[in-house]
Amino acid sequence: MCRRKCRKSDEFYIPDETDLRLFPAATQEKANDPRSPEQRVTALLRDGQNVSVDKKRPRDLPEWFDEKLFARGKEYFHSNFYAVFVANLIGLILVLTIPTILDVLILTNKSSEPYTAFRRYLDTIRHMLRWYKYDLKKVDSKCQKSVTIVHGLHCAASRISDKSGLGLRVTQKDMVLTQFGFMGLILLKKKELAIEGTDEDEMAIVHFWRTIGYFIGIQDKYNLCQGTLEEVRSTCDIILKDVYVPALMDPPAEFHRMVVTLIEGIKPISPMLDVDAFMTFTRRICGLPDTGTPLANTYSRWMYNIQAYTHDVLLTRRWLAFVFRPLLNYNMMFSVWLNVKFPFGAACKFGMKTFSRVPDHAPHPIRPDDG
Ligand code: HEM
Repeated sequence: MCRRKCRKSDEFYIPDETDLRLFPAATQEKANDPRSPEQRVTALLRDGQNVSVDKKRPRDLPEWFDEKLFARGKEYFHSNFYAVFVANLIGLILVLTIPTILDVLILTNKSSEPYTAFRRYLDTIRHMLRWYKYDLKKVDSKCQKSVTIVHGLHCAASRISDKSGLGLRVTQKDMVLTQFGFMGLILLKKKELAIEGTDEDEMAIVHFWRTIGYFIGIQDKYNLCQGTLEEVRSTCDIILKDVYVPALMDPPAEFHRMVVTLIEGIKPISPMLDVDAFMTFTRRICGLPDTGTPLANTYSRWMYNIQAYTHDVLLTRRWLAFVFRPLLNYNMMFSVWLNVKFPFGAACKFGMKTFSRVPDHAPHPIRPDDG
């Protein structure tokens, strides 16, 4: 574990030897942020809400990029594919509690009914898999093309929101809150979700998301994944407790409808998902107090128990995990592949339109030299 040493004279954080081993040179310079995690969160939320997603398209790798650490982040993801998928699904649900994000998703109308949600979230998973799989360093790689498309989608969404009267949307604040959805629970709920890895692996996934954030328009000073592992973890912890838990207890009006649509849309990939069961599991993982009301129907109770048993037992007990972790990982990867190549399950649910090819996204709306 890393310890903080503050030299009072200049208030700068001096990394000790353990930190130097854990956080190679490329990631150290930003560990010099003298602010406490509380101050960082306040600044992120206060200042970040007035700054749009960075419209400038990053061309080169940032100077702090560390190739080895980035590659290790990818490995960590693949060896925990199933548990990270669950963490991300919970993260996505959390993101829907934020009114300024929810209203953009409602406006673009690409995830407001189960079929479009199936397409939209399958695309999200496919983009994410390209980031975790292909070479970010090559300009014409699938990874680079994907981050460029996603950056373009965000720039377009920001413009459309502005034009349609929503005001400033896809802000740095909302980008960072969504970034949390992709990595926050991996750090905070590693034990509860039975994600297996070391401190180095966690730092690697943080570095991975710092880099992806950079490419999709998060400015360095707002990037949630900046600093030492403990600083990032503390910042995430505050975001979970001060932003997401209260929002989950009192979500916006459209939240429930959008969650039902999300889960119905994702069912072809994970058929056993049940809204009530997964929401109960989400609340448990996020540390919300038990409502005291048992799940209404037997099916939901079964699904909740299976979900909980998977993380508490199958992925936790050594010998069971030895068998079930790769099994669940491959099963989930296979399911994504099947839904991309041969979406028969989705076709049963949504009809023949599932087989029609969706055109690729339009090119990036921002020309390279645009600010
Ligand atoms: C780290 C932050 C974020 C990541 C990693 C991310 C990831 C993605 C990905 C992978 C897609 C492609 C999905 C597709 O092809 O349909 C996408 C699309 C989109 N994202 Fe994000 N996103 C982030 C933040 C945000 C925020 C803060 C907003 C809104 C406030 C937003 C709104 C959208 C919209 C509107 C689309 C186009 C599809 C649609 O209309 O739903 N994203 N995002």
